[in-house]
Amino acid sequence: MSNNLNLDGCDLVKLALKYGTPLYVFSQGMIERRCREIKEQFLNRHEGSHAYYASKAFLTLAMCQIIEKEGLGLDVVSGGELHLALKASFPAERIVLHGNNKLRQEIEMAVESGVGRIVVDWEGEIDIIDEVSKIKGQKTPILLRVTPEVKAMTHKYIQTGHRGSKFGIPLERIPYVVKKTISLSNVELKGFHFHLGSQIDDYRTYLEAVDVITKLMSDLREGLGYTTEELDIGGGFGIGNGEGSLTKPISYFTDPAMERIKARCLTFGLPLPSVAIEPGRWITGEAGITLYTVGAIKEIPGSCTYVSVDGGMADNIRPALYGARYRAEVANKMGRDKDKIVTVAGRCCESGDILIEDLPVPGDIEPGDILAVFNTGAYSYSMASNYNMLPKPAVVFVDKGEDILVVERETYDDLVVKQRGIRSALRV
Ligand code: LLP
Repeated sequence: MSNNLNLDGCDLVKLALKYGTPLYVFSQGMIERRCREIKEQFLNRHEGSHAYYASKAFLTLAMCQIIEKEGLGLDVVSGGELHLALKASFPAERIVLHGNNKLRQEIEMAVESGVGRIVVDWEGEIDIIDEVSKIKGQKTPILLRVTPEVKAMTHKYIQTGHRGSKFGIPLERIPYVVKKTISLSNVELKGFHFHLGSQIDDYRTYLEAVDVITKLMSDLREGLGYTTEELDIGGGFGIGNGEGSLTKPISYFTDPAMERIKARCLTFGLPLPSVAIEPGRWITGEAGITLYTVGAIKEIPGSCTYVSVDGGMADNIRPALYGARYRAEVANKMGRDKDKIVTVAGRCCESGDILIEDLPVPGDIEPGDILAVFNTGAYSYSMASNYNMLPKPAVVFVDKGEDILVVERETYDDLVVKQRGIRSALRV
């Protein structure tokens, strides 16, 4: 019996040998199970509801195919994400376009392809959508993103619903914007959207925002006779770290939110809007593992032991950017006593490129070992860079003992393919 770490029937050490490291490995089954939980616990239980996977968390053609097959929608935030989704033949009507500064060209792309909704983030955007839609002879369904002035308890960099956020239309401007929007002929105002932030682990944060938004809906109905048909409460549903904290079921967030929406609508005498959610991390975060090969090991007396791996902040910026904490195992030495504490360092030329501090590992950890870092399925690959001219790792999906390469590893040539020398330096 091998002592190697296994994911969905695949030996991760063998995968590291087969594809090289660093390597992103995803459990397809876990992604599908998360989608099904959303269907069973949210979509099937609430008429007219929608769930859009926030593709910024992790987007590849294969991922789009899974989301399509599972019947969810897709949230995209740029022309690039939209392009990829359309390349994967994702149905445009199931796509919602976000962005706090959408380019006109992106709006044109969205209108032309017939995306289901555009979520407007600032007042001027409405005129652009209206004009573009008029040229194309269409009426575009939109939502207005509202800043509900709710501060989520999460890292400052990933709070988005507080007063002063760069996202959304300030609350007090909404009545003017609604009035203007409903007078336009090429946009159709379906309702409102808020997104409070990411890695939120308390459902009460959503309730605070629901209270604000339903009051707004009531005021708009009274003041302008405008009835909200749709309410999109965004994403941000947190995941556990695999140790002390566990990932909560989606219903932990959605049940109380739905109850509160229903109760408030009843109180205000409002018709119940159809409700949408936009989970990203909750779907892919735990499904991904990053594999690295251990290289340099430095024991610094009186300080710490650095175990360096062949990746780092270029394939996972989250520890450096948000102080994110990860759990890891030496994949080829499972089940042994962990009698050594090490600091896992990346290979980028930055002292801040530390992936994990104080990680217990087997005392005989050595160069060539395979380190598996858990819960890296969201915002690792999608935020990867080529810093230090490091090629981006490959992405492999595993499912019931089979592995499939869904993104090839970049080559050194890929890194220079778009570059040109300067004319004066060319020797002819
Ligand atoms: N909807 C909107 C409008 C969003 O802006 C986001 C994330 C989501 C949904 C999905 O949020 P999730 O369910 O994945 O938390 N790079 C950061 C996260 C930034 C999230 C940006 N917006 C990180 O690595 O933690």
